[in-house]
Formats: sequence, structure tokens, C-alpha cells
Amino acid sequence: MVPKVSIAALILVLVTSLFGPASTLPNRELLADVSFPTGSAPSLLSTNAFQSASGPPYSLYPSVPALFSFGDGGQDVGNVLYLGHDNSTKHYPFGTSFYNLTGRFSDGRVFADFFAQALGLPFLTPSLTPNGNFYQGASFASASSGRFNDTGDSDGFRGIPLLKQVDNFIQFQADARAYWAGFNSTYPPERIPRYPMPEFFSRAIYMVQSGGNDLLNFRNQGLTPADIPAFATNMTAVYETFVRALYATGARKFFIMNIGLFGCTPLSIRNNNGSCGVLTNALCSNIVNQTTALNSRLSTQLLNSSFVQGDFYQFNLDVFNNPAAFGVVNATGACCGSTTLSCPQLALALANTTAPYNGPVPLCPNPKEYLYWDTTHMSESMTRILAHDIFGGSKYGKPKNMLQTFILPDLLNLQ
Ligand SMILES: *[C@@H]1O[C@H](CO)[C@@H](O)[C@H](O)[C@H]1NC(C)=O
Ligand SMILES: *[C@@H]1O[C@H](CO)[C@@H](O)[C@H](O)[C@H]1NC(C)=O
Ligand SMILES: *[C@@H]1O[C@H](CO)[C@@H](O)[C@H](O)[C@H]1NC(C)=O
Ligand SMILES: *[C@@H]1O[C@H](CO)[C@@H](O)[C@H](O)[C@H]1NC(C)=O
Ligand SMILES: *[C@@H]1O[C@H](CO)[C@@H](O)[C@H](O)[C@H]1NC(C)=O
Ligand SMILES: *[C@@H]1O[C@H](CO)[C@@H](O)[C@H](O)[C@H]1NC(C)=O
Ligand SMILES: *[C@@H]1O[C@H](CO)[C@@H](O)[C@H](O)[C@H]1NC(C)=O
Ligand SMILES: *[C@@H]1O[C@H](CO)[C@@H](O)[C@H](O)[C@H]1NC(C)=O
Ligand SMILES: *[C@@H]1O[C@H](CO)[C@@H](O)[C@H](O)[C@H]1NC(C)=O
Ligand SMILES: *[C@@H]1O[C@H](CO)[C@@H](O)[C@H](O)[C@H]1NC(C)=O
Repeated sequence: MVPKVSIAALILVLVTSLFGPASTLPNRELLADVSFPTGSAPSLLSTNAFQSASGPPYSLYPSVPALFSFGDGGQDVGNVLYLGHDNSTKHYPFGTSFYNLTGRFSDGRVFADFFAQALGLPFLTPSLTPNGNFYQGASFASASSGRFNDTGDSDGFRGIPLLKQVDNFIQFQADARAYWAGFNSTYPPERIPRYPMPEFFSRAIYMVQSGGNDLLNFRNQGLTPADIPAFATNMTAVYETFVRALYATGARKFFIMNIGLFGCTPLSIRNNNGSCGVLTNALCSNIVNQTTALNSRLSTQLLNSSFVQGDFYQFNLDVFNNPAAFGVVNATGACCGSTTLSCPQLALALANTTAPYNGPVPLCPNPKEYLYWDTTHMSESMTRILAHDIFGGSKYGKPKNMLQTFILPDLLNLQ
């Protein structure tokens, strides 16, 4: 019943099924054309050494050779399993909608996966993967984490706080530079290099989604409605620190997710006796407005930078107000789990071979019909709709979608 597949094996299965087995990859000449526009090869490498290092051919848009993601469970693609505090996402029913994909708080793919696919990149590798391949990107995100260093999830676990993820990225970039500096014509890089080439960093997209877990602090610290603006200002200040720190390392393209309508998650609704948490929603709305102001200020202050804001809040609101328009039958409940057995608890119980579980399995028949997969995370199908609109649609990527902001100007040479 329960999948017992290692992460590595699963990723191999995924890569194979999505992109074809390694032996059928397009030839290297083609790769060089697709992935590396003229002049992008590092000067220390001879042409031959470079060609023998041709990497995965998955860059659909040469101007965006890599993707880096940061944040919480909406962006974590498996660091949660390396941290080892909560192994539930390794097990069914997590991942059930997409090849039993593990390490995600979802029935399938999360935002980072959809953006990687839309860009024609392989799925991101969790940054904590020992000897992982990070050639075209990595996710530094960590479920349970927040923008504030002291934020944790409901059981107090903090994951890797957002700004600590930036520290980890800075170390990663240093590792990547050292990796490439170590090669020359005598010692060429591996056929599939492990780290991004140094020039990838200024062309990559940096995406962040963090903040849901921080909302717990508001209540835990006994704050009142009068504290909403200051709390939202503090939250937004961390996003600013985040962007400025990455900009200083050479990052230029930023995707910033605002924040969901967290007063209307199944968890909030349950905590509020059946209706949305008004105070939480007011806090989220304030954060959204400040995020918009931040993006517009930073895009003028930081030379050559470009920003897309993902309007998670408006999307949640639209689905909540008109579920049928999105194919949703249930916009208030969780597909997986019950009040007595949460989705993570269910997954662990089903996976337990010592004490086989044979109680009721609280799982909806069709996760696509639910806005929420568990009590706080959206279902794969809703994540997909939002991600696709932000990438190439017209409603939730602001002021413009990702294609228009990050890709078209380079393709048309408009800069
Ligand atoms: C999660 O799995 C890891 C690796 O198998 C293990 O070391 C760790 O103890 C597990 N954590 C929990 C909370 O069971
Ligand atoms: C996912 O796991 C479930 C439960 O073990 C299994 O029934 C199903 O066939 C698996 N799906 C895929 C695509 O591997
Ligand atoms: C939070 O952590 C970051 C990174 O570890 C550190 O630079 C920052 O000073 C910390 N912030 C506070 C308020 O302690
Ligand atoms: C190439 O790199 C190796 C190992 O880093 C080094 O020992 C060697 O001297 C280098 N050769 C050239 C031609 O730079
Ligand atoms: C915002 O941050 C400041 C400075 O760290 C702190 O003094 C204040 O209490 C915070 N306000 C709220 C509402 O969290
Ligand atoms: C929910 O209802 C219970 C019982 O009527 C009440 O004690 C509690 O304060 C209510 N909670 C909220 C958030 O309204
Ligand atoms: C955010 O901005 C919108 C539109 O400008 C406005 O209607 C709303 O009241 C603002 N929210 C808060 C909490 O200030
Ligand atoms: C901005 O872009 C121009 C043109 O590509 C480049 O010459 C300049 O160095 C860039 N400046 C910064 C700070 O990125
Ligand atoms: C939505 O799902 C929850 C959890 O499965 C359930 O309790 C609730 O009755 C459902 N609501 C509707 C309108 O189907
Ligand atoms: C399985 O269930 C037993 C009995 O409840 C418990 O003691 C044990 O820790 C569980 N094993 C795992 C791997 O969760």
C-alpha cells in the first residue's frame, strides 16, 4: 500500500518520465545551443573542456538558466525530510496526485515545481541533499519556517528561518564558484555539473514565499488589532532584507509571493467556530498592500532588478467567493485528515508497519475538488492554476506575469 521508494529513486523516476531517460537526451551540440548563448562559457575553460561538460538540456529560455526558491512549505521540495523532524510527507497520501512525489506538503507538486516546469528546468533539488545536483537550481525553503527567526509551526519546530536560508545560499554560491574555478582543460567538469555556472546567478529567478507560519506569532504574542500595521511592517521588512541581501550577491529577477487569505484556511475556520478569522485576514490584507509598495519601491531603487508579485491573497479570495468557477466543490475543508487525525498523522499511521493502522482513512476521493489539501496547504490542482496564471496569465502576476517580466525583454532584446 504505502510507497517505500527513496527520494533519489523517485526523482529519477520523475526525471525519466518527464524528460525521457538519460540515454535519449538530445545531443551535446543541441544542448550547447539551448542552454548556453554565445559568450556565456567561462573563459578559463577551453571549448573542448566546456563541451564535455554540457549539462542537462532543460533550459527552455536561455536567459533563465536556473531557479532558486526560498520560504516555507509552499516552496520546500524535500528539505523537510533531511531535517528529519517530520517525515510524514515521505508517505502516502502525500504526493498521491503526482507519482507519489515526496517531501512536499501537498498531494502533488508545489509552487517551486510548477515554476521549474514552466521554465523547462528540472525539478529543484532540496539544498540539504548530500552530493545533490544543483546545476540548474535548488530550493533552500523549509516547511515550518517563517520570516522571523523565532517563528515555528504549531508544534514549535522552526525549520530554517528565511534569512538563515539566505546565509545558506551565500555559502552555496561560494561553493559553486570554487567548484567551477577548480576545472581547466586538463580537469574538465563532470558531464552533468553539480553546481550552477557562476554567470547563472545574475540570470536566475529567485522566488520567495514565506509568512503563513509567522501569523501564529501574532496570537502567541498576545497582539491586538491595533498592532496589525506594525506587525505587517515588520513582516515586510524581512522581505526587504531578503531581497537586498540576494541583490548584493548578484540576483536581479525576483518573484515575491504575497500571502494567502490565511483567515480562511480550514485550520482558521476550525479555530473560529466555522467562519473565517477576520483579524487574520485584516493582517494578511495589510501585508499584501505593503508587499505591493515594497516591490514597486525596490524595483526603482535596485538597478536592473525586476519583480513579479504573486497575488496569493486575491486568488484565495476569488476561489473562496466563487469555488465553482475554479472547479472547486469544497473551499473550506481539508481533503486529507480530520479533527482527530491530521493529514501528517494519517500518513505516519498508514506507514507504520509495527502497528498496522486499520481505522477510518479521512481522505476525499478527488483532491482536485478541494481548495485545500490539508488544513493549511492548497491542493496541487489549485497551486497549479495559480502558478500557471502567475507565469503566463493575466490576473495574479503583478504588475505583469513572469514571462512578460523575466523572459520577453531578453528574448526581444528590449533592455
Ligand atoms: C525521520 O527519518 C530520519 C531518516 O530516516 C530519521 O533519522 C528520523 O529519526 C526520523 N524522524 C522522526 C521524527 O521519526
Ligand atoms: C502511489 O502510491 C499508492 C499507494 O501505495 C499506489 O496505489 C499508487 O499506484 C502509486 N502511484 C504511482 C503513480 O506510483
Ligand atoms: C535572524 O537571522 C539572520 C540570519 O541568521 C541574522 O542575520 C539576523 O540578524 C537575525 N535577526 C534577528 C532579529 O535576530
Ligand atoms: C588544472 O587543474 C589542476 C587541479 O586543480 C591543477 O593541478 C593543474 O595545474 C591545472 N592545469 C592547468 C593547465 O592549469
Ligand atoms: C516590530 O519590530 C520592532 C523592532 O524590532 C519591535 O519593537 C515591535 O514590537 C514589533 N512590532 C510588532 C507589532 O510586532
Ligand atoms: C467558539 O465557541 C466556543 C463555545 O461556544 C467559545 O467558547 C469560543 O470562544 C468560540 N471561539 C471563537 C474564536 O469564537
Ligand atoms: C489594501 O488596499 C486595498 C486596495 O487599495 C484596500 O481596499 C484595503 O482596505 C487595504 N487593506 C488594508 C488592511 O489596509
Ligand atoms: C545594469 O545593466 C547594465 C547593462 O547590462 C550593466 O552594464 C550594469 O553593470 C548593470 N548594473 C547593475 C548594478 O546591475
Ligand atoms: C468540506 O470538507 C470538509 C472536510 O472533508 C467537510 O467536513 C465538509 O462538510 C465539506 N463541506 C462541503 C460543503 O462539502
Ligand atoms: C508505530 O506505532 C507504534 C505503536 O503505536 C509506535 O510505538 C511506533 O513508534 C510507531 N512506529 C513508527 C515508525 O512511527
